[in-house]
Amino acid sequence: MDGLFISFEGIDGAGKSTHIDGLAQAFRAQGRVVTLSREPGGTPLAEKLRVMVLNDEMDAMTEALLVFAARRDHLQRLIEPALARGEVVLCDRFTDATFAYQGGGRGFDLKTLSILEQWVQTVRGAGPDLIRQPDLTVWFDLPAEIAAQRLAGARTPDKFEAQPVEFFRRVSQGYLERMMAFPGRFARIKADNTRDAVWQDVLNTVQGRGWLA
Ligand code: TYD
Repeated sequence: MDGLFISFEGIDGAGKSTHIDGLAQAFRAQGRVVTLSREPGGTPLAEKLRVMVLNDEMDAMTEALLVFAARRDHLQRLIEPALARGEVVLCDRFTDATFAYQGGGRGFDLKTLSILEQWVQTVRGAGPDLIRQPDLTVWFDLPAEIAAQRLAGARTPDKFEAQPVEFFRRVSQGYLERMMAFPGRFARIKADNTRDAVWQDVLNTVQGRGWLA
């Protein structure tokens, strides 16, 4: 069976987690082997980089370089081997988050991010090189104001969660621009809805692609 790579995106508070777990169960129920992972993170080295990115103050370029360094390790050690074994890889965030957060939110140069993306995600195999991208990106689109209400009073915020609502408006705009650049890969889910309704949308999206019965 061919490997399948699905990423999940959205601003902090958009509510991705339960749906990622739900999809993992749905795939497993149909006999697929599922690898659940997240970015930044997913390998011991990338998890160390995650702690720095989420907690230490740094400029936007340093942040971008660290998330791409983490991604390189993650791709080489976990994602590519899992896809080669024909597994389903469900990843909480991937490169679209870098375009949205470091690009949109922090204002870092998008052309430089594209160059890093090409370097880091190039897969060399028997055939021609390919730039690894998710087969599907599920974008949980939630207005920044509602996300801010959801996050208020929740656990202690990390560096990003502590940002003002304008930051998350720019992050959302960053996701929108990525969706417009890659319309075939993106599914935009209206996350300002009941959990059941959001789950139905997620399921319909994956079933619509023929990956779940
Ligand atoms: P998140 O995925 O929301 O995890 P948790 O649910 O544990 O808080 O946290 C990851 C944070 O890292 C999130 O605020 C977005 C940020 N991030 C970037 O800024 N750039 C990136 O490339 C990635 C993958 C994440």
